Amino acid sequence: MGASVCRAVNWHAQSGGVQWVEQRLLPHRFEQVVSLNPEDVAVAIESMQVRGAPTIGATAAYGLALAWKEDRDRFFDFWLPRFRATRPTAVNLFHACDAMQRCGEGDPSSAEMIEAAEAYADAEVSANRAIGACLAESLAVGQRRILTHCNAGWLAAVDWGTATSGIYHLAHAGEKPFVWVDETRPRLQGARLTAWELNQEGIDCRIQADGASAWMMAQGKVDAIVVGADRIAANGDVANKIGTYALSLAAREHGVPMYVAAPSSTFDPACPSGSDIPIEERDDGEVLEMDGLDQDGLFRHIRIAAAGVSANNPAFDVTPFANITAIVNESGVWKP
Ligand code: MRU
Repeated sequence: MGASVCRAVNWHAQSGGVQWVEQRLLPHRFEQVVSLNPEDVAVAIESMQVRGAPTIGATAAYGLALAWKEDRDRFFDFWLPRFRATRPTAVNLFHACDAMQRCGEGDPSSAEMIEAAEAYADAEVSANRAIGACLAESLAVGQRRILTHCNAGWLAAVDWGTATSGIYHLAHAGEKPFVWVDETRPRLQGARLTAWELNQEGIDCRIQADGASAWMMAQGKVDAIVVGADRIAANGDVANKIGTYALSLAAREHGVPMYVAAPSSTFDPACPSGSDIPIEERDDGEVLEMDGLDQDGLFRHIRIAAAGVSANNPAFDVTPFANITAIVNESGVWKP
């Protein structure tokens, strides 16, 4: 049992391929894609059809199981590096590739490789459930107006979500959490995905411009912040969606507790501190252009800025551990 109607990514046993939710179409269209071609799975990660650190890891695990089944001879020399190159910041991707590499070295059958990918995804889901139960205890102490940034929901984490898991646990226990959803420029994962997820669950939420968050805190309208993470360095510094660092500064200034919810697969003990985390730079079109439905319900892609103007687009930032109240993990709570 999870929080969602389906998983963000899964093995599609009927066809012997990988199935994922095409997140770029949400919230306007819900579609699942199935493919028997490992290259399609790698492209799905690169092009952000699937995104969010734990989902990226699980998708790579399934994609590599598919590569083992379809093209075993090129598994080590081609497919492992191909998947490792899809996105740089979320360390879950590399942990998943390492796990599948170790499994491949034992010369397993295709069924055993698929089982390894399933075990990887299942471990993420149980971690998320445990994180949520723990988070719900912290959030229940009078903290009901919760602010979140980006999408750390089930779409991002196979099932339950990390940050949203605590919110779903509260709601399932009959509480009535309210969520401020940062829209999360430039790709709008908050406005497009988190608000959609919360709405599906009947959880009261309101989307706000990223710039509104500090002001809501200053007015005493935020009881707690909960975000996910893409990589946590050995010293506790947290890489997450761009804008998280600014939130942490405002939270510290206004005494708002800030929780980071992350499974073990997001920890990188080999990375000494935040300054060692590779930060993905993405295409400036994400800032300069936008897509959505027009008034006739047709998908449109439009340009916002003047022709010839360029943009800066770092996809993640690093929040020092000292700015965080606690990191909540499936096996404990870490405080600075
Ligand atoms: O670029 P994205 O959409 O993959 O970034 C996602 C985030 O930054 C999430 O907050 C993070 O992966 C945590 S997901 C549980």
